[in-house]
Amino acid sequence: MTAHLLTATGVQKNYGPTQALRGVDFSIAAGEIVAVTGPSGCGKSTLLHCLAGILRADAGEIRYRDQDIGLFSEAARSRLRRSDFGVLFQFGQLVPELTAAENVALPLLLAGSGRQEARKAAIGWLDRFGVADLADKRPGAMSGGQQQRCAAARALVTEPQVIFADEPTGALDQLSGEQVLGAMVQVVRDQGAAVVLVTHEATIAAYADREIVLRDGAVDPTGLGVTP
Ligand SMILES: Nc1ncnc2c1ncn2[C@@H]1O[C@H](COP(=O)(O)OP(=O)(O)O)[C@@H](O)[C@H]1O
Ligand SMILES: [Mg+2]
Repeated sequence: MTAHLLTATGVQKNYGPTQALRGVDFSIAAGEIVAVTGPSGCGKSTLLHCLAGILRADAGEIRYRDQDIGLFSEAARSRLRRSDFGVLFQFGQLVPELTAAENVALPLLLAGSGRQEARKAAIGWLDRFGVADLADKRPGAMSGGQQQRCAAARALVTEPQVIFADEPTGALDQLSGEQVLGAMVQVVRDQGAAVVLVTHEATIAAYADREIVLRDGAVDPTGLGVTP
């Protein structure tokens, strides 16, 4: 039996009258890459936010390393996100006033690292994503693909156990999207991190080890997703 790092059981989430998740079961093992696919509005982002402890589920259970994160306080969940999780969104959300190296160093500075140490680590991570030459450029001077590589470096710089990526290539053309994801898969494989990869694109889902398909807030038991 595989030891699961993160497990969701019967997760429900409503926004007013909208039942976004109707009892979703999900699990991911250490080092595994799982694609969550399905049509727009099926609940992918909501599931990702619940799993990452950003949203609180209305019912069901989410366990991370045998701890029920639903029982955690807001502060405890935010500590867990800083220490064990990394997030990457569709638009990298880099701080525009900061250079690439400063953006990537930020989570380390927030965690108490010294400036020089954080900059050195940040440049190392930019290098692993093939963008070390952009270290002193601001996001406005980079392409979308370059920005996403920096955002991926920032998501990984604290060496999280789980990366939550919500349509990380959704704003990129197919080629740069696949390049960013190819780089990310290589880096997370080296790192042994698990990835919850939300996408509606078949070519992106194909990078995952496994795919779960959501339809209308529930896992599609046929599992017929977007993977070609
Ligand atoms: N903040 C919100 N307030 C109200 N309804 C929302 C909110 N976020 C998502 N929804 C609704 O919940 C459902 C699932 O949305 P979402 O998780 O964003 O789906 P996906 O990421 O698969 O496109 C949709 O019907 C969406 O309109
Ligand atoms: Mg979404």
